[in-house]
Amino acid sequence: MPLAKYEYLSDVWRDGIFDNKVIFCTGGAGTICSAQVRAMVHLGANACIIGRNVEKTENMAKDIATARKGAKVLGFGAVDVRKPEALAEAAQKCVKELGSIDFVIAGAAGNFLAPMDQISQNAMKAVMDIDVLGSYNTVKATLPYLIESAAKHKTDGKTPPPKGTGGRIIFVSATLHYTGTPLQSHVSVAKAGVDAMAMSVAIEQGPKGITSNVIAPGPIADTEGVARLSKQEGRDRVSKSIPAGRYGTVKEIADATIYLFSDAGNYVNGEVLVVDGGQWHTSGVA
Ligand code: HXC
Repeated sequence: MPLAKYEYLSDVWRDGIFDNKVIFCTGGAGTICSAQVRAMVHLGANACIIGRNVEKTENMAKDIATARKGAKVLGFGAVDVRKPEALAEAAQKCVKELGSIDFVIAGAAGNFLAPMDQISQNAMKAVMDIDVLGSYNTVKATLPYLIESAAKHKTDGKTPPPKGTGGRIIFVSATLHYTGTPLQSHVSVAKAGVDAMAMSVAIEQGPKGITSNVIAPGPIADTEGVARLSKQEGRDRVSKSIPAGRYGTVKEIADATIYLFSDAGNYVNGEVLVVDGGQWHTSGVA
């Protein structure tokens, strides 16, 4: 059953702002990233979503395609972000079938709860490989296409930029490394690396018209991350400690995504947009 528009996107955004644009998203079958892509597709984009699980990825692609009549959404399953060749092939296929890559979301992540003394070197490496190397592989595979797209929207600074955007990257990170978070040393290290990478890409590639930003979601309801990381009692306690008084929604991450990818975000580069209802500023005590 397709979601009604108001369920996944605020009405502030105009239909068609991403017409003829293509988004490439790793982790695209997951709860947060699929909502980001769905919102882009609703507003005109076509999409390639990348995942490890073939059935889950293909089904999600079909579901996202219902967000707009005529939308083309391809699901490339069996692509592990730890394999650069597989990502390069997916990016090529995406451009061959949909014509370009204008937006990238590096969203694939791995996580589990464990104290550092129980994390094997291989487990630490698995998370670093998925989050840090996976993000690097994603950007590396798509950057030539993003640069092409950005070139169409560059401004000389004297005339206003042409309408529409392209050449934009969003890394999906977290807030847990801003403070010490128990049982999350592996992911904290990895996400700090992702944030740092986003900033370097912003500075290096900015002159080519690329923007590279981070969205750091707080606790978002009904996501795999929250399901993996907390039990219901913990969730009730966390809700009370969030200044907003509740968990976030995937729609709120989708809205942040549209902001950064749209003309509204033209001059935002190298930033971390925290979308957590103010949670990380608190001491975590209700
Ligand atoms: C300790 C664990 C473990 C656990 C796995 N390992 N789970 N160690 N505690 N709970 C260890 C394994 O024993 C193994 O080490 C190593 O990790 C690799 O495990 P594999 O299963 O062989 O690897 P792989 O299939 O590649 O799995 C990677 C994974 C897995 C990260 C471990 O959890 C995964 O694929 N996750 C993907 C989906 C996911 O996590 N989504 C949630 C993202 S949420 P040994 O030494 O035995 O070989 C998110 C939000 C973050 O990122 C922010 C939240 C606020």
